[in-house]
Amino acid sequence: MRGDLCIQACADDPQVAFHAVRNLSRIAFGRARIRWSQLGFGRTSKTTADQSTPRNLFGFKDGTANILADDPKALDEHVWVSSADGPAWLAGGSYLAVRNIQQRIETWDRVRLVEQEQIIGRDKGEGAPLSGGTEFTPLDFHKKDAAGRPAIDPKAHARLAHPDLNDGVRLLRRGYNFVNGNDATGDLAAGLFFLSYQKAPERFIRVQAIGGQGPDGRVPGHRGRRAVRGAAGSRLGLVRRRRSVRLIRDGLQREYPGRVRVA
Ligand code: HEM
Repeated sequence: MRGDLCIQACADDPQVAFHAVRNLSRIAFGRARIRWSQLGFGRTSKTTADQSTPRNLFGFKDGTANILADDPKALDEHVWVSSADGPAWLAGGSYLAVRNIQQRIETWDRVRLVEQEQIIGRDKGEGAPLSGGTEFTPLDFHKKDAAGRPAIDPKAHARLAHPDLNDGVRLLRRGYNFVNGNDATGDLAAGLFFLSYQKAPERFIRVQAIGGQGPDGRVPGHRGRRAVRGAAGSRLGLVRRRRSVRLIRDGLQREYPGRVRVA
């Protein structure tokens, strides 16, 4: 959705965030109007060291490996645009990527725990990597299970989105859950309101292209139905809603000639 201004209003109680947006929109009356908005709840990412890791609607801890606000080195390396990275007016800023990802909660709830954990690459209770250890133990992609198979499935989301498979790229995820009622069949119209900050759009595109479909592998035992459906809309910087990743890439290449490269 093309717009001039983007506000992410966060509070412990959504009523407070709503109140902030309402007041900003009141002050802007006659000069600006809201083009698009989404109410989220229950942050889906840990963003400071003192926070315990929250859970997303799939019930897994989310944000274990996130960039934290109290890690200035990682923020400089991955999130804030430096004067060497882009136009002077953008120095000290960042790019926000936004996706409404539908999660098929009912499908997911019928998947066996062991399969859910394989899809994510971490255990559900503690969020520890399936290669062993506790929540913050680094993932070991070489570790084998008793049957000689990789302990972390090669298609596991935590592996595909890991910096080791993405040229060292890390994103600062700051998403929320959403529930927009239910669909005509009675299923929850729910999902992850994915928000990430990164110093260049191509970084998000890079992670999304390989692992960022979310835990999007076909759900075994469910006739290939996916527990995560493609984004109802993906927005990045100035990119319009309701466009596919390819169109986003093409749009970005037009907007930032020579700066967006996707393998
Ligand atoms: C419904 C969709 C999604 C769900 C349920 C989901 C869930 C998770 C979970 C449970 C983890 C492991 C815990 C953690 O390290 O935070 C994780 C990690 C991660 N996810 Fe997602 N995710 C989704 C979509 C995405 C998308 C769209 C992207 C990016 C385009 C993304 C990027 C990442 C990254 C970068 C990591 C950390 C990998 C690492 O450094 O080890 N995720 N996600």
